[in-house]
Order: sequence, then structure tokens, then C-alpha cells
Amino acid sequence: MVTSSAPGKVYLFGEHAVVYGEPAVPCAIERRAHVTVEQRESGMSVHADDLTLDGFTVEYDAETGGRPDVEVADSLVEAGVGYVNEAIEQARDAADAGDVGFDITVESSIPLGAGLGSSAAVVVATIDAATRELGVELAPVDIAQRAYEVEYAVQDGEASRADTFCSAMGGAVRVEGDDCRTIAAPDLPFVIGYDGGAGDTGALVAGVRKLREDYGFAADTVEAIGDIVRQGETALAEGDLAELGRLMNFNHGLLEALGVSSRSLDAMVWAARDADALGAKLTGAGGGGCIVALDRTPETKTALEFTPGCEEAFRAELDTEGVRQESR
Ligand code: MEV
Repeated sequence: MVTSSAPGKVYLFGEHAVVYGEPAVPCAIERRAHVTVEQRESGMSVHADDLTLDGFTVEYDAETGGRPDVEVADSLVEAGVGYVNEAIEQARDAADAGDVGFDITVESSIPLGAGLGSSAAVVVATIDAATRELGVELAPVDIAQRAYEVEYAVQDGEASRADTFCSAMGGAVRVEGDDCRTIAAPDLPFVIGYDGGAGDTGALVAGVRKLREDYGFAADTVEAIGDIVRQGETALAEGDLAELGRLMNFNHGLLEALGVSSRSLDAMVWAARDADALGAKLTGAGGGGCIVALDRTPETKTALEFTPGCEEAFRAELDTEGVRQESR
């Protein structure tokens, strides 16, 4: 029996535009998915709990195709099951292990579908734990590659390498097409606001694709996000937090123009700005879920706690460690 963990992430800059070859800078945060894997003769069962900040329990048997008894959207449950199944396929392939079975337990403090990279973290940790259980140790970059293939398959080809590379490697990373690298980052005072909801990543990515095809402004907006990311990289290298915050505000405005924000995300962004955060933006696919703000003071967290529509506000430290084995 092996337990591995992998971190969630926030996007400092560049979600959505990264799908079209622009650069993005996601940062791993100290909220992890833990996956425990035990080999069995055949078939597969998956137990999951604490998949939202409130917590709930999912029990299903992947063999029977039964739906877990949880109060979340079907699309999220189906996606969750799809990610675990594909991750196990990758582990079997890496270990040349045929149809060997597994009992899998997922414990995650990363809310599902909320822009904090829950699926990437679960996939990365599952591949690591399952390959180790089969006696194979993959390098984090190889896990990132296999995890990307999982997201690509489950999201019908609508996935960048950003979430999976960040979760496997930890810290701040820069992703531009197939070029993925870790980059230096100062201590970043992240504050996260969570509206308790989730967006459908596949539908949101498809929506931006259509907008980009139909309207020149949307194609220009995607390019403008790329410009912001490049300027953001300079600010990051110089440790210029005020400039990083300004650029985050611009990035949120452009994501709003692409139609991926929501009333609650905008309300949380404005609450953070009114509390004098250095900057704030939605993180991830959007449609609902989380915003990320930069603020060293307690003001933004307090303001978010009093914002209607914000279910939870918390600080998140940059997690410099990516995937790791927890126990065996
Ligand atoms: C989702 O977390 C981030 C998107 O850019 C999609 C992707 O990069 O795969 C919206």
C-alpha cells in the first residue's frame, strides 16, 4: 500500500490563453490531494472524501459503473471517475502491468472544479502511488507527461500542460505549449476566496474557443493575456509585488471579456480590491469557484469572509514541493 500526495495550484497569470500557445504561470499551493493505492487481483474501487472544503464521502465501484452518492453535479462526478480511471491506465502502462486491480482512496483538501487544480493533483498523486505500488519509480517530469495525457483524454483534447506540470513539480512554473519549466518566485501572500461552486472546464474552454473563432476581439484578448504574462514574469523575477497585483487585475478584466467570470467571482475580486489587495483575479477555468488575491495584511481575507457569495476565504502558501510519496 502506497500513499502519495500532490499540490493544488493557483494561476498567477495565463489560464485559457495557455490553451492557444500563450505562456502561463501557475503556482503550487499548500493544499494537497492524498491518494492511497493498494494492489488487488482485478477490478477497481475508489473511495473519496473531503473533496470540497465542507467534505463529503464518495464510494463507488468503478467496475459496476455505479454513481457515487454525493450532492455534486453529475459532470463533476463523471470527470472525477474518468480522471482516476485514466490515471490508473497510465500507471499500468508505465509498469507494463496488464489489468492488475486496485483499491484507491482519495483524500483531498482541494475543492473540486474550483480552479485550484484538484483533478491534476489527484491524477498526479494517483499515477505516483500506483506506479510505486507496482515497483516502478517515475521522475516527476514523467509523471507530469502522463498526467497531461490523462487530462487531454478526459477533457477531449482541451487541456494545456500547465496544471499537471505545476502539480508534479511544485513551486512556480512557466508553461508555453510543450515548453514547461520551473521558475524562481518570491514569497507570494496568496489569499483565496471560494464561492462554493464549480465551473465545467471543458465547456468553458470550448466557449472561449468559439468566441475566439467568431470575434477578432477575443483572439486579440488571448494575445493580450500573453503580453501580461510576459510582463508578469519580469515582475516576478524582480519580486515587484505591486506590479504583479496590477497585472493580475488586468488579467481578470481580460478573462471577464472572454466570458469566463461570474457574478460571485467578480464580487470576490472587487471585495479584495476594496480591501486594498495588491491585485485579484479568478483562477482556473472560471464560471465559479475561486479567486486569488495578493495581500500581506489580514484585510482581504476579512473582507472576503463578509462578502455575500464567498463561502470560504483562506491564506495559501506557495508549495515548493511537487508530487511526493507520503508512506508505504
Ligand atoms: C484550467 O485549470 C486551466 C485552463 O487554462 C485549461 C487548461 O489549461 O488546460 C482553462
